Amino acid sequence: MRTAVLSLGVALLCLLPAEAEDLGAAGLDESKVAGRWYIPAMASSSPGFLQKKDELKMAMANITVLGGGNLKISFAVPYPAGCKRSEGIYRPTGSPGQFHSAERGNKTVQVLDTDGQSYAVILASRVKDGKTLHMLRLYSRTQEVSPRVAELFKNLAEKKGLSSEMIRMLPRQEECSLEAA
Ligand SMILES: *[C@@H]1O[C@H](CO)[C@@H](O)[C@H](O)[C@H]1NC(C)=O
Ligand SMILES: *[C@@H]1O[C@H](CO)[C@@H](O)[C@H](O)[C@H]1NC(C)=O
Repeated sequence: MRTAVLSLGVALLCLLPAEAEDLGAAGLDESKVAGRWYIPAMASSSPGFLQKKDELKMAMANITVLGGGNLKISFAVPYPAGCKRSEGIYRPTGSPGQFHSAERGNKTVQVLDTDGQSYAVILASRVKDGKTLHMLRLYSRTQEVSPRVAELFKNLAEKKGLSSEMIRMLPRQEECSLEAA
């Protein structure tokens, strides 16, 4: 259980490269992130996100742990133009809680914080036109997010240099789920 319980304090320290070993000592128990998640909040400074963020709704993700610690992540994302489903294989980079996908544009995901049960905060980074774009996502087992977890997400976003205008709590939706209709 020790691996599951990361205090916010430890998680914040993990944001500093020099302290990255803290999550290493605790490790990431990948089985704890497996299964279905809602994505009820996102934050980014990317112009594309800021332009569209008020139209966005809650997406869903499903994480499967494959051999070798690889993760398969399936997404169902409700765009104004319709539901978009995609999936990618993410391989461990060697850094604790960090995975990389070479498919569809070189993405890195980093689990910044999780209680190993109800939520995880995941930072996704990708390089586009020579610039690195970051997207912080809250993964939650429930559509409803407790005020404590919402606060924790906002604090992590601020620690990543994102202002409150760059954080979006997303409304629920029913039209776009992981199962194709
Ligand atoms: C969702 O994740 C679970 C747990 O990892 C896995 O058993 C299931 O096959 C996944 N479903 C899909 C549609 O990928
Ligand atoms: C993918 O990203 C990694 C680190 O983020 C970088 O070292 C590598 O050069 C990138 N590869 C491509 C094809 O952009």
